[in-house]
Amino acid sequence: MKWNNSFALGIEVIDAQHKKIFERLLAIENAVTKRDPWHILRFQLDELAAYMKFHLAVEEAMLEIIRYPGRSEHLESHARILDQVAELESALKENSKAEDLVRFFENWFLKHVLAADRRYAEYVERELPALMEPDGAS
Ligand SMILES: [Fe+2]
Ligand SMILES: [Fe+2]
Repeated sequence: MKWNNSFALGIEVIDAQHKKIFERLLAIENAVTKRDPWHILRFQLDELAAYMKFHLAVEEAMLEIIRYPGRSEHLESHARILDQVAELESALKENSKAEDLVRFFENWFLKHVLAADRRYAEYVERELPALMEPDGAS
């Protein structure tokens, strides 16, 4: 997989974060392919999981501020992602299931970022300018 501009939602901050996640994912795939030592892979996976958590929190704050109508559904899918990350993290502590984690993140990227995130993008574009204006000119 390669980053493609069609992955972009048109929201600069979010796109930069999605791209960063995507690039970290590619680095991990490379490490798996090259059969890098386990501790290196483990470190990369921890970093990716931490960054993903940060990204989901940023997105949730944004959806709250703009009062995105689909936010409870969106937050639920984030919660499911975090549950899966936690499960995979604890599975990783017991044995090396790097491939599972890579597959999970790929799946997440394709399903969530390219579908669910895309659904709020249009709303953000439409609503954000008005929300940035002060209430009533005084
Ligand atoms: Fe996202
Ligand atoms: Fe999202």
